[in-house]
Amino acid sequence: MRESALSGPLGQGGRLIGRIGDDRPPSRRSYRDNGRMKRTPFADLDNTPADLHTMLFAMLQAMGRHPEIQRVRRVAVDGLRPAPGQRLLDAGTGTGTMARQLAAKVTETGEVVALDFSGTFLAGARAGHDGSPVRYVRGDVSALDYGDDTFDGVWCERVLQHVPNADAAIAELVRVTRPGGRICLIDTDWQSLVFDGAPVDLTTAVLDLVRAKLPAFSNAMGRTLRRRLVRAGLGMVETTPVTCYFGDPASASVVLPMLNPAAPRDAFMPGDDIFDQWLAEVEQAGRRGEFLAALTLWVAVGTV
Ligand SMILES: C[S@@+](CC[C@H](N)C(=O)[O-])C[C@H]1O[C@@H](n2cnc3c(N)ncnc32)[C@H](O)[C@@H]1O
Repeated sequence: MRESALSGPLGQGGRLIGRIGDDRPPSRRSYRDNGRMKRTPFADLDNTPADLHTMLFAMLQAMGRHPEIQRVRRVAVDGLRPAPGQRLLDAGTGTGTMARQLAAKVTETGEVVALDFSGTFLAGARAGHDGSPVRYVRGDVSALDYGDDTFDGVWCERVLQHVPNADAAIAELVRVTRPGGRICLIDTDWQSLVFDGAPVDLTTAVLDLVRAKLPAFSNAMGRTLRRRLVRAGLGMVETTPVTCYFGDPASASVVLPMLNPAAPRDAFMPGDDIFDQWLAEVEQAGRRGEFLAALTLWVAVGTV
């Protein structure tokens, strides 16, 4: 990877903590500062503890199997319209699952480049390779090592909420997409997260804590995608909010890390005592059949 990719926008607003290839011991403090996270663990997974990124990889795999996430992805695939022979970029591929699904659409005559900033995640994605035309590549969405107009289309799912300068990343996605190609962005709107079943005041306090912990740029990324694509000069921008519904805590915990008992508490949850009280109330609401959660993910597609 070229040096500029490593010193790109991830380093803006402060020093990039840990570079690819560093052998310094990972530090949880690198992404967390007691209160609001400066960035999420997903911004630089290779500099998080090994047990954390193993857990996050498994969480992403489970999320990809959740029917509500699959519903979001169907909307997004319809928007991107992948076709045989196309060359697509899956920017921030994670587990590589979507890259392989898109590869089935572009067929052997096309190709999907599955790109990720994390070497460990990319190794995990590569381990799941199924022989379809996917190439696994390490890189930074904010400083892509590709020429202009390289791709027919781009898929970028739940990545921009982890990138401090989303507009710079989108500019790169636009640059590498040929005129007439399509860019499909999917992102979460954490401010849309609602719960019912537990006491309202307690839930409100917990949601305030959850939102206060996320980096400010992450909180409402989903709803900003349309504006960002319009500002980037894309045409025919189509935007669809997809509200995911969870009728019990077990189903919700697959997509909502704050409810996932396997998720590292200090990475996603407020350390406050009321969080434990709330979890107990959520469990009871689940047993009574009264629990509900909803979260909106936004799909925005535009033409370069
Ligand atoms: C929440 S995961 C989403 C993965 C996958 N797109 C999905 O929806 O399942 C975010 C992914 O983006 C990657 N990522 C974060 N910052 C990145 C960057 N600047 N360039 C490329 N990938 C990045 C992370 O390593 C991680 O794999």
